[in-house]
Amino acid sequence: MSTEQHSGQAAAHKVEPAKGKLGVMVVGLGAVATTMIAGVEAVRRGLAKPIGSLTQMGTIRLGKRTENKSPLIKDFVPLADLNDVVFTGWDIFEDNVYESAAHAAVLDKETLAKLKPHLETIKPMPAVFDQYYVKRLNGTHVKKGASKRDLADQVIADIQAFKKTVDRVVMIWCGSTEIFMEPTAVHQSLAAFEKGLDASDIGIAPSQIYAYAALSEGVPFANGAPNLTVDTPALIELSKKNAAPICGKDFKTGQTFMKTVLAPAFKARMIGVSGWFSTNILGNRDGEVLDDPESFKTKEESKLGSLEYIFQPELYPDLYKDIYHKIRINYYPPRGDEKEAWDNIDIFGWLGYPMQIKVNFLCRDSILAAPIALDLVLFLDLAKRSPQLRDRGIQEWLSFYLKSPQTAEGLYPEHDLFIQSMKLKNTLRHIMGEEVITHLGLEYYD
Ligand SMILES: NC(=O)c1ccc[n+]([C@@H]2O[C@H](COP(=O)([O-])OP(=O)(O)OC[C@H]3O[C@@H](n4cnc5c(N)ncnc54)[C@H](O)[C@@H]3O)[C@@H](O)[C@H]2O)c1
Repeated sequence: MSTEQHSGQAAAHKVEPAKGKLGVMVVGLGAVATTMIAGVEAVRRGLAKPIGSLTQMGTIRLGKRTENKSPLIKDFVPLADLNDVVFTGWDIFEDNVYESAAHAAVLDKETLAKLKPHLETIKPMPAVFDQYYVKRLNGTHVKKGASKRDLADQVIADIQAFKKTVDRVVMIWCGSTEIFMEPTAVHQSLAAFEKGLDASDIGIAPSQIYAYAALSEGVPFANGAPNLTVDTPALIELSKKNAAPICGKDFKTGQTFMKTVLAPAFKARMIGVSGWFSTNILGNRDGEVLDDPESFKTKEESKLGSLEYIFQPELYPDLYKDIYHKIRINYYPPRGDEKEAWDNIDIFGWLGYPMQIKVNFLCRDSILAAPIALDLVLFLDLAKRSPQLRDRGIQEWLSFYLKSPQTAEGLYPEHDLFIQSMKLKNTLRHIMGEEVITHLGLEYYD
Protein backbone atom coordinates (compact mmCIF):
# COMPACT_ATOMS: atom_id res chain seq x y z
CA MET A 1 0.00 0.00 0.00
CA SER A 2 1.40 3.42 -0.93
CA THR A 3 1.88 6.23 1.59
CA GLU A 4 -0.83 8.17 -0.23
CA GLN A 5 -3.29 5.38 0.35
CA HIS A 6 -2.25 5.24 4.01
CA SER A 7 -2.76 8.94 4.57
CA GLY A 8 -5.99 8.61 2.60
CA GLN A 9 -7.37 6.10 5.00
CA ALA A 10 -6.36 8.19 8.00
CA ALA A 11 -8.16 11.21 6.56
CA ALA A 12 -11.23 9.12 5.83
CA HIS A 13 -11.69 8.50 9.51
CA LYS A 14 -12.03 12.18 10.05
CA VAL A 15 -15.49 12.39 8.48
CA GLU A 16 -17.82 11.51 11.30
CA PRO A 17 -20.15 8.59 10.64
CA ALA A 18 -23.84 9.17 9.93
CA LYS A 19 -25.10 7.65 13.18
CA GLY A 20 -28.74 7.86 14.23
CA LYS A 21 -31.60 9.88 12.75
CA LEU A 22 -31.22 12.79 10.36
CA GLY A 23 -34.00 15.35 10.85
CA VAL A 24 -34.88 17.34 7.75
CA MET A 25 -36.77 20.58 8.32
CA VAL A 26 -38.43 21.72 5.11
CA VAL A 27 -39.65 25.28 4.73
CA GLY A 28 -42.65 25.17 2.39
CA LEU A 29 -44.44 21.85 2.01
CA GLY A 30 -45.56 22.40 -1.59
CA ALA A 31 -45.00 20.50 -4.82
CA VAL A 32 -41.24 19.94 -4.59
CA ALA A 33 -41.16 19.17 -0.88
CA THR A 34 -44.06 16.72 -0.91
CA THR A 35 -42.69 14.97 -4.00
CA MET A 36 -39.37 14.55 -2.20
CA ILE A 37 -40.97 13.30 1.03
CA ALA A 38 -43.40 10.94 -0.72
CA GLY A 39 -40.60 9.71 -2.97
CA VAL A 40 -38.31 8.90 -0.05
CA GLU A 41 -41.12 6.91 1.57
CA ALA A 42 -41.86 5.09 -1.71
CA VAL A 43 -38.18 4.16 -2.03
CA ARG A 44 -38.00 3.01 1.59
CA ARG A 45 -40.98 0.75 0.98
CA GLY A 46 -39.45 -0.67 -2.20
CA LEU A 47 -42.23 0.80 -4.36
CA ALA A 48 -39.91 2.83 -6.60
CA LYS A 49 -36.29 3.57 -7.42
CA PRO A 50 -34.60 6.87 -6.47
CA ILE A 51 -34.07 7.90 -10.09
CA GLY A 52 -32.39 11.27 -10.52
CA SER A 53 -30.59 11.09 -7.20
CA LEU A 54 -26.81 11.02 -7.41
CA THR A 55 -26.47 10.15 -3.72
CA GLN A 56 -28.64 7.06 -4.16
CA MET A 57 -27.70 5.82 -7.64
CA GLY A 58 -24.40 7.46 -8.57
CA THR A 59 -20.99 5.85 -8.53
CA ILE A 60 -17.57 7.43 -8.16
CA ARG A 61 -14.38 6.28 -9.82
CA LEU A 62 -11.41 5.89 -7.50
CA GLY A 63 -7.81 5.51 -8.62
CA LYS A 64 -6.72 4.66 -12.15
CA ARG A 65 -9.08 3.59 -14.95
CA THR A 66 -7.25 0.24 -14.96
CA GLU A 67 -8.21 -0.40 -11.31
CA ASN A 68 -11.92 -0.78 -12.07
CA LYS A 69 -12.90 0.71 -8.74
CA SER A 70 -16.22 2.57 -8.91
CA PRO A 71 -18.22 2.18 -5.69
CA LEU A 72 -21.62 3.71 -5.17
CA ILE A 73 -21.24 7.21 -3.73
CA LYS A 74 -23.35 6.22 -0.74
CA ASP A 75 -20.96 3.35 -0.01
CA PHE A 76 -17.91 5.59 -0.38
CA VAL A 77 -18.92 8.56 1.80
CA PRO A 78 -20.88 8.16 5.04
CA LEU A 79 -24.32 9.46 4.08
CA ALA A 80 -27.49 9.20 6.12
CA ASP A 81 -29.47 6.14 5.13
CA LEU A 82 -32.95 6.94 3.79
CA ASN A 83 -34.41 4.78 6.57
CA ASP A 84 -32.89 7.21 9.09
CA VAL A 85 -34.34 10.35 7.52
CA VAL A 86 -37.21 12.05 9.39
CA PHE A 87 -39.10 14.97 7.84
CA THR A 88 -40.88 17.91 9.39
CA GLY A 89 -41.59 21.42 8.12
CA TRP A 90 -43.49 24.67 8.02
CA ASP A 91 -46.13 26.00 5.67
CA ILE A 92 -48.56 28.89 5.53
CA PHE A 93 -51.37 26.40 4.88
CA GLU A 94 -52.46 23.75 7.38
CA ASP A 95 -52.60 20.84 4.90
CA ASN A 96 -50.61 17.80 5.95
CA VAL A 97 -48.11 16.35 3.47
CA TYR A 98 -50.68 13.92 2.03
CA GLU A 99 -53.21 16.70 1.41
CA SER A 100 -50.61 19.04 0.00
CA ALA A 101 -49.21 16.34 -2.31
CA ALA A 102 -52.75 15.56 -3.50
CA HIS A 103 -53.27 19.26 -4.21
CA ALA A 104 -49.96 19.55 -6.07
CA ALA A 105 -51.03 16.53 -8.19
CA VAL A 106 -47.49 15.60 -9.16
CA LEU A 107 -47.79 11.97 -8.07
CA ASP A 108 -50.76 9.85 -9.10
CA LYS A 109 -53.59 9.08 -6.69
CA GLU A 110 -52.74 5.37 -6.53
CA THR A 111 -49.17 6.00 -5.38
CA LEU A 112 -50.29 8.61 -2.87
CA ALA A 113 -52.96 6.31 -1.45
CA LYS A 114 -50.28 3.72 -0.62
CA LEU A 115 -48.21 6.34 1.17
CA LYS A 116 -51.11 8.13 2.86
CA PRO A 117 -50.75 6.65 6.38
CA HIS A 118 -47.20 7.98 6.59
CA LEU A 119 -47.68 11.26 4.74
CA GLU A 120 -50.65 12.42 6.76
CA THR A 121 -48.62 12.22 9.96
CA ILE A 122 -46.40 15.09 8.76
CA LYS A 123 -48.20 18.30 9.60
CA PRO A 124 -46.70 21.72 9.04
CA MET A 125 -45.79 24.02 11.88
CA PRO A 126 -47.10 27.60 11.52
CA ALA A 127 -44.91 29.60 9.17
CA VAL A 128 -43.11 32.91 9.25
CA PHE A 129 -44.82 34.75 6.44
CA ASP A 130 -45.48 38.26 5.20
CA GLN A 131 -47.37 38.91 2.00
CA TYR A 132 -45.14 41.87 1.22
CA TYR A 133 -42.51 39.33 0.12
CA VAL A 134 -44.80 36.94 -1.85
CA LYS A 135 -47.65 38.91 -3.32
CA ARG A 136 -49.71 36.07 -4.76
CA LEU A 137 -50.05 34.07 -1.54
CA ASN A 138 -52.21 34.68 1.46
CA GLY A 139 -51.33 32.41 4.35
CA THR A 140 -53.55 31.48 7.25
CA HIS A 141 -51.24 29.19 9.23
CA VAL A 142 -48.80 31.87 10.29
CA LYS A 143 -46.82 32.75 13.41
CA LYS A 144 -47.52 36.03 15.16
CA GLY A 145 -44.65 37.96 16.66
CA ALA A 146 -43.89 41.36 18.13
CA SER A 147 -40.80 41.69 15.90
CA LYS A 148 -38.71 39.76 13.40
CA ARG A 149 -36.47 38.84 16.33
CA ASP A 150 -39.47 37.33 18.08
CA LEU A 151 -40.31 35.30 14.94
CA ALA A 152 -36.72 34.07 14.65
CA ASP A 153 -36.86 32.99 18.31
CA GLN A 154 -40.03 31.03 17.57
CA VAL A 155 -38.32 29.19 14.70
CA ILE A 156 -35.32 28.53 16.95
CA ALA A 157 -37.72 27.01 19.50
CA ASP A 158 -39.18 24.77 16.74
CA ILE A 159 -35.66 23.61 15.82
CA GLN A 160 -34.70 22.96 19.43
CA ALA A 161 -37.83 20.88 20.00
CA PHE A 162 -37.18 18.83 16.84
CA LYS A 163 -33.53 18.34 17.82
CA LYS A 164 -34.69 16.42 20.89
CA THR A 165 -36.22 13.76 18.63
CA VAL A 166 -33.36 13.23 16.14
CA ASP A 167 -29.55 13.15 16.11
CA ARG A 168 -28.73 15.76 13.47
CA VAL A 169 -30.74 18.43 11.65
CA VAL A 170 -30.62 20.05 8.21
CA MET A 171 -32.96 22.76 6.85
CA ILE A 172 -33.96 23.30 3.23
CA TRP A 173 -36.02 26.11 1.71
CA CYS A 174 -38.65 24.68 -0.66
CA GLY A 175 -40.89 27.69 -0.14
CA SER A 176 -42.10 30.14 -2.71
CA THR A 177 -40.02 32.66 -4.62
CA GLU A 178 -39.91 35.96 -2.78
CA ILE A 179 -39.78 39.40 -4.40
CA PHE A 180 -36.47 40.53 -5.87
CA MET A 181 -34.22 41.93 -3.15
CA GLU A 182 -30.72 43.28 -3.17
CA PRO A 183 -28.47 43.31 -0.11
CA THR A 184 -28.74 46.45 2.00
CA ALA A 185 -26.86 47.74 5.04
CA VAL A 186 -28.71 45.28 7.27
CA HIS A 187 -27.10 42.36 5.41
CA GLN A 188 -23.51 43.56 5.65
CA SER A 189 -22.61 41.98 9.00
CA LEU A 190 -24.11 39.69 11.58
CA ALA A 191 -24.25 42.54 14.08
CA ALA A 192 -26.22 44.70 11.62
CA PHE A 193 -28.53 41.81 10.81
CA GLU A 194 -29.28 41.15 14.48
CA LYS A 195 -30.07 44.82 15.03
CA GLY A 196 -32.31 44.58 11.97
CA LEU A 197 -34.19 41.66 13.54
CA ASP A 198 -34.88 43.79 16.62
CA ALA A 199 -36.04 46.68 14.46
CA SER A 200 -38.03 44.43 12.04
CA ASP A 201 -36.01 45.87 9.13
CA ILE A 202 -37.85 45.59 5.80
CA GLY A 203 -34.67 44.18 4.21
CA ILE A 204 -35.09 40.95 6.21
CA ALA A 205 -37.37 38.55 4.33
CA PRO A 206 -39.06 35.52 5.93
CA SER A 207 -36.57 33.17 4.23
CA GLN A 208 -33.79 35.00 6.05
CA ILE A 209 -35.52 34.58 9.39
CA TYR A 210 -35.60 30.80 8.92
CA ALA A 211 -32.00 30.78 7.70
CA TYR A 212 -30.86 32.88 10.66
CA ALA A 213 -32.63 30.49 13.03
CA ALA A 214 -31.05 27.44 11.39
CA LEU A 215 -27.53 28.83 11.32
CA SER A 216 -27.82 30.11 14.90
CA GLU A 217 -28.52 26.52 15.88
CA GLY A 218 -25.57 25.21 13.83
CA VAL A 219 -28.01 23.66 11.34
CA PRO A 220 -26.94 23.58 7.64
CA PHE A 221 -29.24 25.46 5.25
CA ALA A 222 -29.94 24.90 1.53
CA ASN A 223 -31.81 27.45 -0.55
CA GLY A 224 -33.88 25.87 -3.32
CA ALA A 225 -35.42 29.15 -4.49
CA PRO A 226 -33.73 32.13 -6.15
CA ASN A 227 -34.31 34.29 -3.06
CA LEU A 228 -31.42 36.32 -1.66
CA THR A 229 -31.64 34.48 1.70
CA VAL A 230 -28.15 33.29 2.73
CA ASP A 231 -26.37 35.10 -0.11
CA THR A 232 -25.39 37.92 2.22
CA PRO A 233 -22.25 38.68 4.25
CA ALA A 234 -24.27 38.57 7.50
CA LEU A 235 -25.53 35.02 7.07
CA ILE A 236 -22.25 33.77 5.56
CA GLU A 237 -20.56 35.08 8.71
CA LEU A 238 -23.04 33.19 10.90
CA SER A 239 -22.64 30.04 8.80
CA LYS A 240 -18.87 30.05 9.34
CA LYS A 241 -19.11 31.02 12.99
CA ASN A 242 -21.38 28.09 13.82
CA ALA A 243 -19.95 25.55 11.36
CA ALA A 244 -23.31 25.36 9.61
CA PRO A 245 -22.71 24.82 5.87
CA ILE A 246 -24.89 26.69 3.36
CA CYS A 247 -25.62 26.46 -0.34
CA GLY A 248 -27.91 28.06 -2.91
CA LYS A 249 -29.60 29.28 -4.93
CA ASP A 250 -32.47 27.80 -6.94
CA PHE A 251 -32.73 24.12 -7.90
CA LYS A 252 -31.27 23.57 -11.38
CA THR A 253 -34.00 21.43 -12.93
CA GLY A 254 -35.46 21.89 -16.43
CA GLN A 255 -34.50 24.63 -18.82
CA THR A 256 -31.40 25.87 -17.03
CA PHE A 257 -30.19 22.30 -16.63
CA MET A 258 -30.36 21.92 -20.44
CA LYS A 259 -28.70 25.32 -20.93
CA THR A 260 -25.74 24.43 -18.76
CA VAL A 261 -25.26 21.25 -20.80
CA LEU A 262 -25.63 22.79 -24.27
CA ALA A 263 -23.83 26.09 -23.79
CA PRO A 264 -20.51 24.50 -22.68
CA ALA A 265 -20.67 22.26 -25.77
CA PHE A 266 -20.96 25.28 -28.10
CA LYS A 267 -18.17 27.05 -26.30
CA ALA A 268 -15.90 24.00 -26.31
CA ARG A 269 -16.22 23.88 -30.13
CA MET A 270 -16.01 27.67 -30.62
CA ILE A 271 -19.53 27.84 -32.07
CA GLY A 272 -21.00 31.35 -31.87
CA VAL A 273 -24.41 32.20 -30.41
CA SER A 274 -26.39 35.28 -31.42
CA GLY A 275 -29.63 34.61 -29.57
CA TRP A 276 -31.24 32.34 -27.02
CA PHE A 277 -34.96 32.64 -26.50
CA SER A 278 -36.46 30.55 -23.70
CA THR A 279 -40.11 30.34 -22.86
CA ASN A 280 -42.09 28.18 -20.46
CA ILE A 281 -45.68 27.39 -19.62
CA LEU A 282 -46.49 25.99 -16.22
CA GLY A 283 -49.60 25.80 -14.09
CA ASN A 284 -48.62 24.89 -10.56
CA ARG A 285 -48.56 27.19 -7.53
CA ASP A 286 -44.96 28.07 -8.29
CA GLY A 287 -46.16 29.29 -11.70
CA GLU A 288 -48.87 31.34 -10.04
CA VAL A 289 -46.36 32.98 -7.68
CA LEU A 290 -44.01 33.67 -10.60
CA ASP A 291 -46.85 35.37 -12.45
CA ASP A 292 -46.23 38.30 -10.12
CA PRO A 293 -43.62 40.56 -11.76
CA GLU A 294 -41.66 41.03 -8.51
CA SER A 295 -41.23 37.28 -7.91
CA PHE A 296 -40.57 36.73 -11.64
CA LYS A 297 -37.71 39.25 -11.48
CA THR A 298 -36.02 37.14 -8.79
CA LYS A 299 -36.36 34.02 -10.97
CA GLU A 300 -35.29 35.84 -14.13
CA GLU A 301 -32.07 37.09 -12.55
CA SER A 302 -31.31 33.57 -11.40
CA LYS A 303 -31.92 32.08 -14.85
CA LEU A 304 -30.11 34.78 -16.83
CA GLY A 305 -26.74 34.43 -15.15
CA SER A 306 -25.74 31.02 -16.43
CA LEU A 307 -25.13 31.88 -20.11
CA GLU A 308 -23.20 35.04 -19.35
CA TYR A 309 -20.75 33.12 -17.18
CA ILE A 310 -20.44 30.07 -19.40
CA PHE A 311 -19.83 32.02 -22.60
CA GLN A 312 -17.38 34.55 -21.11
CA PRO A 313 -18.07 37.17 -23.83
CA GLU A 314 -15.13 39.24 -22.58
CA LEU A 315 -12.80 36.42 -23.63
CA TYR A 316 -14.70 35.53 -26.83
CA PRO A 317 -16.19 38.77 -28.18
CA ASP A 318 -16.45 37.42 -31.75
CA LEU A 319 -18.62 34.55 -30.60
CA TYR A 320 -20.72 35.77 -27.70
CA LYS A 321 -20.62 39.51 -27.23
CA ASP A 322 -24.00 40.22 -28.83
CA ILE A 323 -26.15 37.38 -27.53
CA TYR A 324 -29.80 38.33 -27.15
CA HIS A 325 -30.97 36.26 -24.17
CA LYS A 326 -34.65 36.35 -23.30
CA ILE A 327 -36.59 34.33 -20.73
CA ARG A 328 -40.33 34.08 -20.34
CA ILE A 329 -42.42 32.17 -17.80
CA ASN A 330 -46.13 32.02 -18.47
CA TYR A 331 -48.64 30.83 -15.91
CA TYR A 332 -50.95 28.41 -17.70
CA PRO A 333 -53.11 26.43 -15.23
CA PRO A 334 -54.14 23.48 -17.47
CA ARG A 335 -50.59 22.13 -17.40
CA GLY A 336 -50.21 21.90 -13.63
CA ASP A 337 -46.72 20.72 -12.72
CA GLU A 338 -46.12 19.38 -16.23
CA LYS A 339 -44.22 22.30 -17.55
CA GLU A 340 -43.33 22.73 -21.20
CA ALA A 341 -40.24 24.68 -22.15
CA TRP A 342 -39.13 25.82 -25.58
CA ASP A 343 -35.71 27.12 -26.46
CA ASN A 344 -34.79 28.64 -29.76
CA ILE A 345 -31.04 28.97 -30.10
CA ASP A 346 -29.54 30.95 -32.95
CA ILE A 347 -25.99 29.78 -33.44
CA PHE A 348 -23.35 30.43 -36.12
CA GLY A 349 -20.43 28.41 -37.40
CA TRP A 350 -17.50 28.52 -39.83
CA LEU A 351 -17.33 31.89 -41.63
CA GLY A 352 -20.35 33.06 -39.64
CA TYR A 353 -23.00 30.88 -41.33
CA PRO A 354 -26.16 30.80 -39.17
CA MET A 355 -27.98 27.71 -37.86
CA GLN A 356 -30.80 27.08 -35.40
CA ILE A 357 -31.48 24.60 -32.65
CA LYS A 358 -34.91 24.03 -31.08
CA VAL A 359 -35.29 22.33 -27.75
CA ASN A 360 -38.75 21.34 -26.58
CA PHE A 361 -38.60 19.92 -23.06
CA LEU A 362 -41.84 18.44 -21.74
CA CYS A 363 -40.75 18.05 -18.20
CA ARG A 364 -42.22 17.52 -14.78
CA ASP A 365 -40.82 20.21 -12.61
CA SER A 366 -41.10 18.60 -9.22
CA ILE A 367 -40.05 15.16 -10.48
CA LEU A 368 -36.78 16.82 -11.51
CA ALA A 369 -36.46 18.91 -8.35
CA ALA A 370 -37.24 16.27 -5.68
CA PRO A 371 -34.04 14.21 -6.01
CA ILE A 372 -32.01 17.43 -6.07
CA ALA A 373 -33.58 18.55 -2.80
CA LEU A 374 -32.86 15.13 -1.29
CA ASP A 375 -29.23 15.12 -2.43
CA LEU A 376 -28.69 18.62 -1.09
CA VAL A 377 -29.87 17.71 2.39
CA LEU A 378 -27.83 14.51 2.47
CA PHE A 379 -24.69 16.25 1.22
CA LEU A 380 -25.09 19.21 3.58
CA ASP A 381 -25.36 16.76 6.45
CA LEU A 382 -22.15 15.15 5.18
CA ALA A 383 -20.47 18.57 4.99
CA LYS A 384 -21.43 19.22 8.60
CA ARG A 385 -19.65 16.01 9.61
CA SER A 386 -16.53 16.80 7.56
CA PRO A 387 -13.83 18.81 9.36
CA GLN A 388 -12.60 19.94 5.95
CA LEU A 389 -15.94 21.39 4.89
CA ARG A 390 -18.01 22.44 7.86
CA ASP A 391 -16.28 25.72 8.71
CA ARG A 392 -16.15 26.99 5.15
CA GLY A 393 -19.63 28.48 4.91
CA ILE A 394 -20.61 28.27 1.23
CA GLN A 395 -20.37 24.74 -0.20
CA GLU A 396 -19.51 25.62 -3.77
CA TRP A 397 -19.09 21.94 -4.66
CA LEU A 398 -22.90 21.68 -4.53
CA SER A 399 -23.33 24.18 -7.40
CA PHE A 400 -24.00 21.10 -9.56
CA TYR A 401 -27.58 21.27 -8.27
CA LEU A 402 -28.15 25.01 -8.45
CA LYS A 403 -29.14 27.54 -11.08
CA SER A 404 -27.44 30.45 -9.48
CA PRO A 405 -24.59 29.04 -7.41
CA GLN A 406 -23.34 30.96 -4.42
CA THR A 407 -19.60 31.52 -4.40
CA ALA A 408 -16.98 33.31 -2.33
CA GLU A 409 -16.97 37.07 -2.82
CA GLY A 410 -15.23 38.11 -6.02
CA LEU A 411 -15.33 34.62 -7.51
CA TYR A 412 -17.45 34.01 -10.61
CA PRO A 413 -19.76 31.01 -10.36
CA GLU A 414 -19.04 27.89 -12.37
CA HIS A 415 -22.19 26.95 -14.32
CA ASP A 416 -20.92 24.24 -16.66
CA LEU A 417 -22.67 21.07 -15.45
CA PHE A 418 -19.68 18.84 -16.18
CA ILE A 419 -17.18 21.06 -14.38
CA GLN A 420 -19.65 21.15 -11.49
CA SER A 421 -19.94 17.36 -11.52
CA MET A 422 -16.16 16.98 -11.48
CA LYS A 423 -15.88 19.50 -8.64
CA LEU A 424 -18.48 17.60 -6.61
CA LYS A 425 -16.84 14.23 -7.08
CA ASN A 426 -13.35 15.57 -6.44
CA THR A 427 -14.59 17.15 -3.22
CA LEU A 428 -15.88 13.75 -2.10
CA ARG A 429 -12.55 12.12 -3.02
CA HIS A 430 -10.66 14.87 -1.22
CA ILE A 431 -12.56 14.67 2.07
CA MET A 432 -12.18 10.90 2.06
CA GLY A 433 -8.42 11.13 1.48
CA GLU A 434 -8.52 9.71 -2.07
CA GLU A 435 -6.54 11.28 -4.88
CA VAL A 436 -8.50 13.76 -6.98
CA ILE A 437 -8.92 12.84 -10.65
CA THR A 438 -7.61 15.30 -13.23
CA HIS A 439 -8.30 13.20 -16.37
CA LEU A 440 -4.73 13.87 -17.57
CA GLY A 441 -4.10 10.17 -18.15
CA LEU A 442 -0.58 10.39 -19.64
CA GLU A 443 0.58 7.57 -17.37
CA TYR A 444 -1.40 5.03 -19.41
CA TYR A 445 1.03 5.71 -22.30
CA ASP A 446 4.32 5.47 -20.39
N1 LIG B 1 -40.14 22.73 -9.22
C1 LIG B 1 -38.96 23.02 -9.71
O1 LIG B 1 -38.50 22.41 -10.64
C2 LIG B 1 -38.20 24.13 -9.12
C3 LIG B 1 -36.97 24.41 -9.67
C4 LIG B 1 -36.19 25.41 -9.13
C5 LIG B 1 -36.66 26.13 -8.05
N2 LIG B 1 -37.89 25.87 -7.54
C6 LIG B 1 -38.30 26.71 -6.45
O2 LIG B 1 -38.62 25.90 -5.36
C7 LIG B 1 -39.66 26.55 -4.62
C8 LIG B 1 -40.77 25.55 -4.39
O3 LIG B 1 -41.36 25.18 -5.62
P1 LIG B 1 -42.74 24.39 -5.64
O4 LIG B 1 -43.01 24.03 -7.05
O5 LIG B 1 -42.72 23.33 -4.61
O6 LIG B 1 -43.76 25.55 -5.21
P2 LIG B 1 -45.12 25.41 -4.38
O7 LIG B 1 -45.82 26.70 -4.55
O8 LIG B 1 -45.84 24.16 -4.71
O9 LIG B 1 -44.61 25.24 -2.88
C9 LIG B 1 -44.12 26.29 -2.11
C10 LIG B 1 -44.73 26.14 -0.73
O10 LIG B 1 -44.11 27.10 0.11
C11 LIG B 1 -45.10 27.62 0.96
N3 LIG B 1 -44.57 28.88 1.50
C12 LIG B 1 -44.44 30.07 0.88
N4 LIG B 1 -43.88 30.98 1.72
C13 LIG B 1 -43.62 30.31 2.87
C14 LIG B 1 -43.04 30.70 4.10
N5 LIG B 1 -42.61 31.94 4.29
N6 LIG B 1 -42.92 29.76 5.06
C15 LIG B 1 -43.36 28.49 4.87
N7 LIG B 1 -43.93 28.08 3.73
C16 LIG B 1 -44.04 28.98 2.74
C17 LIG B 1 -46.32 27.73 0.09
O11 LIG B 1 -47.51 27.79 0.85
C18 LIG B 1 -46.23 26.44 -0.71
O12 LIG B 1 -46.90 25.37 -0.08
C19 LIG B 1 -40.09 27.77 -5.43
O13 LIG B 1 -39.45 28.91 -4.92
C20 LIG B 1 -39.57 27.46 -6.78
O14 LIG B 1 -39.29 28.63 -7.54
C21 LIG B 1 -38.66 24.88 -8.04
